[in-house]
Amino acid sequence: MQRREFIRNAAVAGAGLLIAPKGIFGADAPSNKLNIALIGSWGRGEAHFSSIATENVVALCDINEEHLAFGAKRFPKAKTYADWRKMLEQKDINAVVCCTADHTHAHIANWCLNRDLHCYMEKPLAITVEEARTVRANWLKRKAKLATQVGMQRHAGANFNRLRELILDGAIGELKSASAWGNRQVRPEGCEYDQEKGIVYFKDDASKSHAGYLPEAGAPPKHINYDLWIGPSPRHAYNPGYFCKGPGANCLSWNMFWDFGAGQIGDMGSHTMDLLWNCVDAKLPTSAEAKGDPFNPAITPINCTSIFEHPANDWRGPITVSWYQGGAMPKPPKDFIDLKKIGHGAMFKGSQGFLVADFENRLLFPYGKEADMSYYKPRAKDKLLPPLGHFQQQWLDACKNPSLKTACDFEYSGNMIEQLLLGLVAYRVGKKLAYDGATGKVTNVPEANALLSRPYREGWALNG
Ligand SMILES: NC(=O)c1ccc[n+]([C@@H]2O[C@H](COP(=O)([O-])OP(=O)(O)OC[C@H]3O[C@@H](n4cnc5c(N)ncnc54)[C@H](O)[C@@H]3O)[C@@H](O)[C@H]2O)c1
Repeated sequence: MQRREFIRNAAVAGAGLLIAPKGIFGADAPSNKLNIALIGSWGRGEAHFSSIATENVVALCDINEEHLAFGAKRFPKAKTYADWRKMLEQKDINAVVCCTADHTHAHIANWCLNRDLHCYMEKPLAITVEEARTVRANWLKRKAKLATQVGMQRHAGANFNRLRELILDGAIGELKSASAWGNRQVRPEGCEYDQEKGIVYFKDDASKSHAGYLPEAGAPPKHINYDLWIGPSPRHAYNPGYFCKGPGANCLSWNMFWDFGAGQIGDMGSHTMDLLWNCVDAKLPTSAEAKGDPFNPAITPINCTSIFEHPANDWRGPITVSWYQGGAMPKPPKDFIDLKKIGHGAMFKGSQGFLVADFENRLLFPYGKEADMSYYKPRAKDKLLPPLGHFQQQWLDACKNPSLKTACDFEYSGNMIEQLLLGLVAYRVGKKLAYDGATGKVTNVPEANALLSRPYREGWALNG
């Protein structure tokens, strides 16, 4: 072992102390704290204030001057910016927390990684397959020195560990399939949803035809830099409807539009698929198929089901993974188990039973003649998976000590969101896709490959 490495390991293992070798963390900060930049300093950004306040917050960025002022009130020493590309030129930054709109996430993540900055990205990590793959690849090149985390903080809940233990210890026999679902039906401001027809329409449109992007509604107010908000996406007219919801919920005013988000996949789908993903040790699927509401070129489907095939790994055979949203639901094991009573949940099917869960609870249902539980070997108490602790703190600790892992790094989360986004491509082409995860190509439906990425406005490089 190199001497420097030995000293670092010894210090961490021995006293729980953190030392700061140059280039690893806070090297220029006298207090050994990270120099953090926060992009998006209101809404979800506020949920990060208390954890980043334990470090040096040296930069804040927001396209909304009032929101920037809100952040600056809490962190008066930070330099302020409207354009995150400018902010990333600030030399003393070593870690970035990003809470912007979804259509900028992959860009910001890549720009951070390419500048050797640790990155905590709010979910979803990306809104296209190509974006997820670029971010993951950039991180894998630097994983020995950079810490990453996607904002799926529910992962710190004890139920995540308990479900994983039940499955690995054989409580449902051999794992065969897993489904996750979410019942949110979010529609844009001024719109209604005809659930039967699967159509989102403007309230004042008697013909109930597909709604589009929100109609032009004058110039944006002076305090919003709308052009920077649009960022890499194609330009759509300003409408206050994109900014009409309260702090931490405003994402529900834009995330259903294709150019700004990935609908419920990027919203509750990220959290709920995580509940499942943590238990199945899957990487990329070999196929994807999906069906849902009739296609709307502006708005992602509310009701949609996607199904993925995953190859075997070292502890289980091949499995299918499914995602149901907006009213679509998996079939319950028995009619008396009403899965609809769980708004966001997951169900695991094994050779000997089912496991049904929400974020806090789990229900084990042995099923079939052989389901006598003799195959279940529960682990001893001292072998239980350790609690994750505080989710944001886990990332801060890993920034300072690269030998520490984070639960939702850009590989784990990148694979998860790539799968879900591939489902949206399958939905759009209406065919079962054969997928080669190594190359990121659909091998049987050529037109699907064009939908794995999206065009960007000039001046906005995905991998800059
Ligand atoms: N982890 C969670 O539980 C959770 C909860 C809510 C939201 N989120 C995620 O957080 C993100 C923000 O959600 P929100 O509801 O706070 O949205 P929001 O629209 O309120 O945006 C948050 C802040 O970012 C600013 N902003 C937007 N685009 C920007 C850009 N390009 N550069 C700089 N600032 C920008 C906005 O002005 C606002 O102040 C979304 O990606 C959402 O999915 C996660």
